[in-house]
Amino acid sequence: MAHDTTPLTATVVGAGAGGTLSIDALLASDDFTLIGVADMSEAARGRVTEKTGGAVATFATAEEMFAAVPSDVVCVSTYAPTHLPLTKAAVEIPGIRGLLVEKPLGDTTAAGKEILETIKGHDLPVVVPHGLMAQAAAQKIIAQIADGAIGPLRVVEMECTTWDIINAGIHWLQFFLSLVDGSPVEFVLAATDRSTRTFRDGMQVETDAITLGRTASGVRVLMHTGDHVPMSRNDTVCLFRIIGDNGFIEFGAYEGYYTLVTPGNDRTRIDVEPFEVSGHQRHLEFLAKQIRSGERDYGIPDTSLQALEVVEAAYQSARIGGTVLLPLDGAQPPTGDDWDPGRPYSGTGGGRNGREL
Ligand SMILES: NC(=O)c1ccc[n+]([C@@H]2O[C@H](COP(=O)([O-])OP(=O)(O)OC[C@H]3O[C@@H](n4cnc5c(N)ncnc54)[C@H](O)[C@@H]3O)[C@@H](O)[C@H]2O)c1
Repeated sequence: MAHDTTPLTATVVGAGAGGTLSIDALLASDDFTLIGVADMSEAARGRVTEKTGGAVATFATAEEMFAAVPSDVVCVSTYAPTHLPLTKAAVEIPGIRGLLVEKPLGDTTAAGKEILETIKGHDLPVVVPHGLMAQAAAQKIIAQIADGAIGPLRVVEMECTTWDIINAGIHWLQFFLSLVDGSPVEFVLAATDRSTRTFRDGMQVETDAITLGRTASGVRVLMHTGDHVPMSRNDTVCLFRIIGDNGFIEFGAYEGYYTLVTPGNDRTRIDVEPFEVSGHQRHLEFLAKQIRSGERDYGIPDTSLQALEVVEAAYQSARIGGTVLLPLDGAQPPTGDDWDPGRPYSGTGGGRNGREL
């Protein structure tokens, strides 16, 4: 049976950088009609009015908009700490049929979990617009790794400058989790330098950080983030080295190609035909498809939540100076506060002899 193809009505909360990606996607897509945008900033509302020639109503609050123009789809595109209350309000809109919630799902794993449980509890589809999940080269890499192009995967290393663990790192960690087919990360050990008191997108973040994690399937992730991370290539925001037993792949995030190095293949550049529409449009059209078919696919939202837990574990690890085990609400190792690795051991004071493990 052919599905109804009448455009779905959509509204967006938050018309900043992320919200504008959704607004542009909704305007470009035949699947949607944008009927409202809410933003507390007058300047942001003005930009929407200018872009749409006044054809789309704007509101100062989400509550006003939800009451005045209840829509089929709501895009929650504000900062992470507001995603939970906005999602809870959106699912109560009479006739709501689906949501887009920006990454990171929440500022904590608990908030992200509650968001997904609330949406699933209402049997609604949701998309979390991770760009690499709607980008042709990144998708081809995931398929190549699954096909064994570089043998068993061992390490994914990332250099990422001008960004931090929670705001961009979450994209890279969600990509990592897709490469390992969702194998759970068992532990995270991270260190952060905080000397510049940098904040970004409503969050206090690191000046410099290294995050180490390892999956149950034995793959390590090593992610170097920060304000000024020295990069081996200066034309990308994040460089991935995806290393297997039989070769490796180098990939600059969002580029239309990657480099494959395997025995007999000395740095082969593989160009990938880009998808026709933007990442946000692709995610939103996938949402429309789920609304029309009644099918549900929480694969990306679930790995986004998994990535958020790794993010929170990294900050927690740096805070306590120790390993954090996942799940975060499970048992944790003692913190060993009075132990000072790198100092001489006096011969007294307990501890365990590392030569007798
Ligand atoms: N998926 C992506 O590629 C991508 C890209 C950029 C941003 N984002 C995400 O989008 C979200 C927003 O970040 P941004 O970069 O757009 O920030 P931004 O500062 O550019 O925009 C946020 C906007 O939301 C408005 N706002 C905040 N709280 C509000 C509320 N309660 N009600 C109404 N308006 C409110 C602000 O006035 C502002 O205009 C973040 O979660 C960010 O991670 C995602």
